[in-house]
Amino acid sequence: MCHPRLVVRLALSALWMVSGSLCPQAAESPKKPSHHIGRDLPDYVTGDECLFCHRNVVGPSWNLNAHQRTLQPRVMTPDINRAIESTPELDPYAKQIQFVLGYQTQIRLLRKAPAYGQLELLTGSFEPDPDSESTPFRFHASQPIGWKPGTFSQRCAGCHTTAVDSRTQAFAATAIDCYACHGSVDLAHTNDPSLVYLAKKRNDPPVLIAATCGQCHVRTGTSKASGLPYANNHVVGDDLFADFAVDWSPAALGSTPPRERHILENIRAVREGDEETTCLSCHNIHRASGRRHRSVASSAYCHICHHPEDMTLTYDRRVKHHPLCGY
Ligand code: HEC
Ligand code: HEC
Ligand code: HEC
Ligand code: HEC
Ligand code: HEC
Ligand code: HEC
Repeated sequence: MCHPRLVVRLALSALWMVSGSLCPQAAESPKKPSHHIGRDLPDYVTGDECLFCHRNVVGPSWNLNAHQRTLQPRVMTPDINRAIESTPELDPYAKQIQFVLGYQTQIRLLRKAPAYGQLELLTGSFEPDPDSESTPFRFHASQPIGWKPGTFSQRCAGCHTTAVDSRTQAFAATAIDCYACHGSVDLAHTNDPSLVYLAKKRNDPPVLIAATCGQCHVRTGTSKASGLPYANNHVVGDDLFADFAVDWSPAALGSTPPRERHILENIRAVREGDEETTCLSCHNIHRASGRRHRSVASSAYCHICHHPEDMTLTYDRRVKHHPLCGY
């Protein structure tokens, strides 16, 4: 068997040009099942290894990317570390806290659970208070502070960590690695970039983009097989919505706030065959999102967020809530 890690070790010792001939089967796109439910997830090449080669375009911005930052070891977040140390309510837990989830809207605190690939969530959270210099993060707890075993694995892991196996609810890495969007990358792509999902040469179909982003950005779904609120062993290229049940009715979509609704409406439209616009018409993952969306042709879709008369916003950008994530 040709192990992907073996291929990458060869790659890193500058022998990558011969890897195709050492492992001929790696160069072929294997026939994939339409899902990985109940199956092992593919082994994947980690971001550190990808960045060894992709250090020029992707590397410089990756550490600041919201996907890479979503769940970090505490040592990587000195400002939150200071907030933990200066919050008296956290004294009994301060030494146990190992990870930090979130940054912009809400910050949750975590530690390793006894089981492999699992974390425990602490009740209570920090909220950024940009107006205060002395306490830039304020701690809130609406219930007694304590560790919640099981919650993170059963309710959160699928979208804030990489390669969660729904059978064990164990993840392979914290935060979102390249694999979540580019799939199980074949190292033969160095000669043929079209082997990697989302490569420019591939021109991936809108349904694939909708499923790739939707595996985490649809926060109103349930896996039929596992009952969990996140996708079941989804690997890019799989048929996400065969198992991930979502209420697409106009009533359900109409009652969601604009920031959420524009995601659901776009995926619904793509699934119904409208291939005009995808997430990538407006969002760019590796360069700041910026102004791309202003050049997209105007349609009723824009009126989720803009009043048709004067293009002012339909909502207050400062207000962010989501019931699943608890902010
Ligand atoms: C179905 C996928 C999914 C699940 C399950 C999920 N989240 Fe999230 N979460 C997201 C996405 C996507 C965002 C980013 C939304 C945005 O930027 O608009 C997010 C954002 C957050 C944020 C805000 C991050 C920031 O930078 O401020 C926090 C905190 C959070 N989630 C915590 C949780 C917790 C705790 C759980 C489990 C109880 C959970 N999430 C379950 C997908 C999920
Ligand atoms: C959240 C999804 C996501 C993650 C995670 C992600 N990428 Fe990408 N990547 C994309 C998308 C989407 C594109 C296509 C760019 C476009 O069309 O706007 C892309 C494009 C690229 C490109 C082509 C160059 C470019 O900027 O267009 C490279 C190289 C790349 N990614 C490497 C990586 C590496 C290495 C990692 C991990 C360190 C990674 N990506 C993680 C979504 C992602
Ligand atoms: C041995 C070096 C090497 C490693 C390791 C490597 N790549 Fe690449 N990658 C390349 C080369 C060379 C190309 C083709 C030239 C280019 O577009 O940069 C490429 C192309 C790509 C593209 C298409 C770029 C485009 O312009 O459309 C993506 C996406 C990509 N790689 C992602 C990844 C991801 C994700 C990983 C890790 C899983 C990875 N690469 C690991 C060397 C590498
Ligand atoms: C494996 C889960 C996952 C996948 C796949 C994923 N995202 Fe995300 N995305 C997240 C999470 C989690 C956050 C929020 C991180 C945080 O704030 O802590 C996020 C944040 C974002 C943001 C906000 C960025 C910012 O700077 O605030 C955008 C935009 C986004 N994602 C777009 C996409 C698009 C487009 C795709 C598909 C190419 C995609 N995501 C794929 C989980 C995912
Ligand atoms: C027509 C352009 C357009 C399309 C298509 C689009 N978005 Fe957005 N999206 C935006 C704009 C503009 C914002 C900024 C809203 C704000 O800051 O209030 C946004 C915000 C977001 C955010 C929240 C970032 C934050 O800081 O709160 C996420 C996550 C996101 N989009 C993901 C997606 C995904 C996933 C898709 C595809 C299913 C998608 N978007 C399709 C324009 C678009
Ligand atoms: C997810 C919500 C969202 C969607 C969907 C969306 N926009 Fe926007 N749009 C925004 C936000 C947020 C801004 C920034 C407003 C600000 O800075 O005050 C903006 C700004 C703009 C601006 C600049 C307005 C100005 O006064 O500077 C234009 C033009 C625009 N959008 C066009 C569109 C078009 C066309 C579409 C449909 C293809 C669209 N938008 C879809 C959220 C959205």
